[in-house]
Amino acid sequence: MTLEASGLSASPSRRIPWPLFIAVAVASTGIVLVCLSQWGVTDQGWLHASRYTARLAFLLFLAPFLASSLVYWWPTPATRWLRAKRRYLGLSFALAHGVHFIALVMFNITIGETPDIVTIIGGGGAYLMILLMALTSNDWSVRTLGPKAWGWLHWLGLYDIWFVFTFTYFGRFTQDQPQEPRIIYITLFAIALAALGLRIATRLSKRRA
Ligand code: HEM
Repeated sequence: MTLEASGLSASPSRRIPWPLFIAVAVASTGIVLVCLSQWGVTDQGWLHASRYTARLAFLLFLAPFLASSLVYWWPTPATRWLRAKRRYLGLSFALAHGVHFIALVMFNITIGETPDIVTIIGGGGAYLMILLMALTSNDWSVRTLGPKAWGWLHWLGLYDIWFVFTFTYFGRFTQDQPQEPRIIYITLFAIALAALGLRIATRLSKRRA
């Protein structure tokens, strides 16, 4: 599998989009502050902060996950920008998900419980992948690991993270009494499936071509 075929490439545009990182940091922190002011510095405040920071992170995750497919089907300046900056979009996802981590740690400290084993293994494993991907999102790591190993690591990480999001949303909308209207979780789940469908369609079309 080549890096291009997997939707990954080792050579994105070098100019770092600092405004993107600043916007993501401000948005994530803003979400936490709004939740804490709305529900108080309580378990409910941190629970909602965990929930909404995860939603922001999910939207950010879709950008690097879909960048190559979008530019393949719709080659416009916007989709080319997404592809050129996907390394930094991936890092901004890691940043937003770092805030999710802080919120969920605070939630667990507040309620005085540890998460169940499925969450620790599934979520903790995905966090490990996010950390590895963030640490290796630089030219030095690509050279040191070699493009093939680097490509596999990032391919595996992307699908692991995709799986945790999709599995989480599936679990939410199949609950007897979801915390929020079921349609929200069905929509998020459908977006995750559609994103996977687009990647598969791109892969098949590139192979045929
Ligand atoms: C050990 C690690 C993790 C723990 C303990 C954890 C915990 C939590 C908590 C407490 C919530 C709020 C629950 C609620 O809305 O009722 C939440 C929501 C969520 N988390 Fe995490 N999380 C972890 C890792 C992850 C990872 C790695 C991902 C994705 C890659 C993820 C995706 C989500 C999603 C999609 C939601 C639901 C957001 C929504 O309702 O729209 N979590 N998590």
